[in-house]
Amino acid sequence: MTSAPDTGISERTGLAVRVEHVSKSYRLGDGSTLTAADDVTLHIEAGRFTCVVGASGSGKSTLLHLIGAIDRPDAGTIRVGEQDITSLSRRALADYRAGVGFVFQQFHLIPALTVTDNVLAPLVGRKISDDRRARAHDLLEAVGLADRKTALPSQLSGGQQQRVAIARALIGRPSVLLADEPTGNLDSQTAAGVMQLLVDLQHEHGTTLVMATHDQGIARSAERIIHITDGRPHSEAI
Ligand SMILES: Nc1ncnc2c1ncn2[C@@H]1O[C@H](COP(=O)(O)OP(=O)(O)OP(=O)(O)O)[C@@H](O)[C@H]1O
Ligand SMILES: [Mg+2]
Repeated sequence: MTSAPDTGISERTGLAVRVEHVSKSYRLGDGSTLTAADDVTLHIEAGRFTCVVGASGSGKSTLLHLIGAIDRPDAGTIRVGEQDITSLSRRALADYRAGVGFVFQQFHLIPALTVTDNVLAPLVGRKISDDRRARAHDLLEAVGLADRKTALPSQLSGGQQQRVAIARALIGRPSVLLADEPTGNLDSQTAAGVMQLLVDLQHEHGTTLVMATHDQGIARSAERIIHITDGRPHSEAI
C-alpha cells in the first residue's frame, strides 16, 4: 500500500491549478439565481502562496470549494495537476478530495474524536498503518500539539483547534492546500501564529497554498493576490 492517496498531483513547478471558464450559480428561494462564479479563468502556480481577496459574498469560498471539489461547477473545467477534476468518477473524486488539504474558518473538527483521530479522519476507509500514526504524530509535533494527542476538540483553544485542522489537512500529503479564512475566528496574536505555521509548512513541503482572506495584512504576505468582485477575478497579479 502506498503511503498517500494518488492524487495525480505531482508538479512542484509550473501550474498547479487551471480554472477555465468556470461558472457556478445558486438558485435562491424566490426562484432567482445568483452567480457566485462568473466565467472565471485563472491559473495558480505550483508551490506558491496565493491569496484570494474580495468583499463578503464576492465568491472566494465558492472558488475554493470548486477547486477542492466540495462543489461542482455548472460550466467550465478545473485541472489540478494533471487531472481534470470536473470529469472524475465518484470514486476518483473521493480520492482527489482525500488528497487535497482544506482548512476552514470554523475548524470543523469532529467533537467525539481525539486530536490524533481527527488528524487521521481524512484517511477513513483506508488502513491506518503504524506509518500513518507516526505521520499524524509528526504533524502534531510540527504544529506544536504533540502533548495534546488524546484531548478532545472541546478541550482545546481556538488556535489549537485550527492547528489540529492544519495537521489534518496535511495528513494526505497534499500538493494543494486550500485555506478559507483560516484565521477568521482567532484573535490577532493566535492568528499570526497560525499564519506563520501555514507559511512555514508551505515552504518546507513546497505546497501550493491558496488562501481566501479579508485581511489585507495576510494578503500582503502572499506571493500573489487574486482579487474577486461579484464572482469574477479582476486582477491576477500583485
Ligand atoms: N449554497 C448556497 N446557496 C445560495 N447562495 C449561495 C450559496 N453559497 C454561496 N452563495 C452565495 O454566493 C455568493 C458568493 O458566496 P461565497 O461564500 O463564495 O462568498 P465569500 O467571498 O466567500 O464571502 P465571505 O467573505 O463572506 O466568506 C454570495 O452571494 C452567497 O450568498
Ligand atoms: Mg467565504
